[in-house]
Order: sequence, then C-alpha cells, then structure tokens
Amino acid sequence: MTASPVDFTDDAVRAGLRGVLLAWFDARQRDLPWRRRRSLYGTWISEMMLQQTTVATVVPYWERFLARFPDVYALAAAPEAEVLAHWSGLGYYRRARQLHAAARQVVAEHGGAFPDDTEGWRALPGIGPYAAGAIASLGLGLPAAAVDANVRRVLGRWLGAACQPGAGSDRQVADLAGCLVRGDRPGAWNEALMELGALVCQPRGPRCEDCPVGAYCGARRLGIADSVAVPEARPAALPVQALLVAFLAEGRVWLEPPGGPLIRCDVGVAPAREALGKLHQGLLTLPTTAWYPRPEKSACDLLAALPAGWVDAAGFAGAGAPRAVGRFRHAITRYRLLVDVAAVGVTLPETPGPHRDIRAQGEISSRPGRWVSLAEAPGLNISQLARKALRCCGDARG
Ligand code: ADE
Repeated sequence: MTASPVDFTDDAVRAGLRGVLLAWFDARQRDLPWRRRRSLYGTWISEMMLQQTTVATVVPYWERFLARFPDVYALAAAPEAEVLAHWSGLGYYRRARQLHAAARQVVAEHGGAFPDDTEGWRALPGIGPYAAGAIASLGLGLPAAAVDANVRRVLGRWLGAACQPGAGSDRQVADLAGCLVRGDRPGAWNEALMELGALVCQPRGPRCEDCPVGAYCGARRLGIADSVAVPEARPAALPVQALLVAFLAEGRVWLEPPGGPLIRCDVGVAPAREALGKLHQGLLTLPTTAWYPRPEKSACDLLAALPAGWVDAAGFAGAGAPRAVGRFRHAITRYRLLVDVAAVGVTLPETPGPHRDIRAQGEISSRPGRWVSLAEAPGLNISQLARKALRCCGDARG
C-alpha cells in the first residue's frame, strides 16, 4: 500500500483542511430543518430517516414526525401503527419499528434521558456505528467519527491512491475520520463532510472545480478523482407487475396486513416474488396478486387473467363487475413495479360479527384484515403502494 500523497498526520495540514472545510460549510450548507432546530431528539430522528433515503424526501417527513411526536415521551406513548403511518413512504420500515422500540426503552429504562455517549447510543435498537457517531457528534458535540457511504467516498478520495477497495482501506478511512474529527465543532465537521459528499464530491463526476479543499485531495493530486471510490454497480433492477384489488363496500375498503392469501392469477409465468410480508411488516395493504416478472416495455392484463369466481375465492361476496381504475409505477428495493388497480363492489356480511363489525379486527374466511372508511384510510399505517392505489380509486370516482 503506497503512502497517501497528503500528510494528514501533520498538524498544520489538519488544521488548514479543517478550517477551510468548516468555513465552506458555514457559508454553503443547505438550510435543513434539523439544522435550524438542533436537538438531540431531532438529530436522532433525522439520522434514522436519512439512512437509505435522500435529504429532499426526508425533510417533510421529519417536519410532520416532529409535529406529531415532539419528544421521546410522545413517541414512546404512541401506538406502533401510528408511528408507521408517519413513516409510510420512507420505506425500510424496520427503521421505524426500531426507532419506536428505542424510544420505549429510553423512557422505560432511563426515565426519558438519552444516552450521553456514543456507546450508550450504540446500545439502542437500530443504532449502528455510523448513527451513533453522527448523533454523538451532531447532538452531543462529542468527537465521534461518522462514516457513511458518502463520507467514506470523500475520505477515500482524500487518501487517493493509498485507498484501494478492501479491508485495509476501510481501516485507513476510519483512522482518518477519527483523526480529523478531533478539534472544534465535531458535529459541524461531520456534517461538513456529508455536505461536501452530497454537493461537490459526488459519486460519479465529482465537481472538483468547485471543491474548497481540492488542495488536500490525494486523488485530485494524482488525477484520479473520477476513478477512486466510485460506487459498486447496483444489482440490476427487476421489472415486475402486480394487481392490487380494492374491495369496496358502503364507503369502506378492505385493508389487511401483508402476507395474507394472494389473489390467484393465470398469467403462465412463475412469480418473481410471492411472499411480500417482510417488505411491509406492520403496515396495512390491499389484497394483491404475486409480483410477476414483466418485459421492460410491456405488461400483461392481470385483471383479464383472474380466474372465474376469484372474488368468492378471495373470501368476498361480489356485488358488481371489477373495474380497472388505474395504473402506476412504484420502486421498492430493486423491484420496479408496474401496478394495476382494480376496484370491485362487494357486500358486507349481514350478520353482526367480527367481519361485520368495522371497529374490530375482522376476518373473512381466512383473510385477517378490516373494513376501513375510505376517508380514514390515508391517515392509517398503510403501505405506500396501498396509498397510491387508493388514490386511483378516488380518481376513478371523479
Ligand atoms: N445525511 C446523514 N445525516 C445528514 C445530515 N445531518 N445532513 C445532511 N445529510 C445527512
């Protein structure tokens, strides 16, 4: 392994680099709500939301979440379904469940007091080394490194040719992060690194001409900024299609937890994905077919491929012909879904009982779920897929 072309062990180099980047951050940082209203709680929520999700997407979610759950007590006291409802659309719902579990742990075991060091944060559900470092530095002002993929790329480029992919370079990046975070304003320093990665030192085509710290960049010095630390190719996207069905009765729609029986469809190809439960755990969704592979530019008519008697087979008493009410695209992990939505009028069972009583969890044959008023559904912990599908039903009604 060759030595880095920039000597970061030199105090003057470190001080110069820190000064320039912090000044750039002070002048250029984006105006983000969790920066404007800095608190330990708000920092924690933002860091959990920002994992796997872009800043632009997170901003309105963060605002709504803090308005509804202004502190750890409010979050701990809320039902999980409501927390998930406020997360709906951010994806990776495990993060929300862990956040909620951590809030309950903080309240139950520590009277609502947050940990005051990195290790304490690391011990909470959903907090890995990156999040612990980010929260400790941004929220507590501790000199803890926070290396996510963006920061890793920035530091990797600074290290230049010394930083080849592999365990050795991870160690070098971690060492450099730890050495540079020591000094004034460790939180601002970490955020400055994130900001540089987001705005200038981007994965492909870094904007080196706008970089405030180009003089400290080993890759730039060696003329290899374009090729160092580029992200690995993502796994290929999988085009799939599915049909979601809104069973409607007296202004209500049937919603169910994921993993219910699939609506069978005769399309002549094996499903790309049948067990959908894990993706939407904790959320309510609409009955669906499996996800079928589809060629890039075409789709088959899934509504036409439903076998005769499918409404009864799904456990409902049909009262009208199913109608196609819309189609939309939706990306989940590597799946690129084309979703058709059908609406079908059904009758509520006459006799009182769990499936007639819309307040209780109901069951139609072996379908656990419940009838929900169409007006209330958007406020519930429904999946983003179901949310979009219900919008199609609304649009179709005009
Ligand atoms: N990514 C992770 N944490 C962030 C933060 N505090 N600001 C901007 N982007 C981030």
